[in-house]
Amino acid sequence: MSKIISVHSFRGGTGKSNTTAGLAALLAAEGARVGVVDTDIQSPGIHVLFNFVETGSVHSLNDYLWGKCSIKEAAHDVTSHLQGVKGRVFLIPSSIKAGEIARILREGYDVNLLNEGFRNVIRELALDYLLIDTHPGLGEETLLSLAISDVLVILLRPDQQDYQGTAVTVDVARKLEVPRMILLVNKVPQAFDLDEVRSRVEQTYGAEVGAVLPHADEMMTLASADIFSLRYPDHPVTLGLRRVVEMVKA
Ligand SMILES: Nc1ncnc2c1ncn2[C@@H]1O[C@H](COP(=O)(O)OP(=O)(O)O)[C@@H](O)[C@H]1O
Ligand SMILES: [Mg+2]
Repeated sequence: MSKIISVHSFRGGTGKSNTTAGLAALLAAEGARVGVVDTDIQSPGIHVLFNFVETGSVHSLNDYLWGKCSIKEAAHDVTSHLQGVKGRVFLIPSSIKAGEIARILREGYDVNLLNEGFRNVIRELALDYLLIDTHPGLGEETLLSLAISDVLVILLRPDQQDYQGTAVTVDVARKLEVPRMILLVNKVPQAFDLDEVRSRVEQTYGAEVGAVLPHADEMMTLASADIFSLRYPDHPVTLGLRRVVEMVKA
């Protein structure tokens, strides 16, 4: 059985794209076939982590949504960029061309087509997991991806703005009856006690906390040039992501 995993946060810059790429790489390292969709159409970014370059003829999610290609044609095997990975990672990028971003924002698109695309790509590429990197907030495509997720990973920073927004997201996910919700606290400053943060977040939302990840200077320095969890396999951030991988697999 394949699983759809959405990685979301109410606010931006929480680490969604890095987390999605890290989870994809760790799952694929164990031999899984993993699809990664960039549904952050307004501000795409995860392709950078996979060193994927959009050249003229390369199909993106935008092309699929405009009926220019099949979803499979928009899925690109990026495994060769991932050292020592036994499985496969297929990236469905969102276009980084200004005109294409503007057009999709102006004209919108059929969210049902997105849903159909997810189902088809899982089947056609025999995926074990489909990971969805989302746009922050609660836009229409986000609501769809939450609604169809088997697992929803919600990222938040230990920040009052994040706390309030996350409460809204958790509430929506409960109403949509998402089968499993995992909170992931990211970018926690050194001065904070990780266990204390965990129990406070757990109590606040009554939801399970997958991991509490410290702010890592190494990640800022890597600056999305590579997948952190492959580059730093023993770092506390990677160990936390591994725990989430185990939860996702269960
Ligand atoms: N635990 C962390 N420690 C330090 N920097 C992080 C951490 N997680 C993410 N980052 C950095 O935060 C920035 C935003 O991450 P990104 O994954 O693009 O977030 P989002 O997709 O939610 O906007 C990137 O520069 C990334 O390297
Ligand atoms: Mg992102």
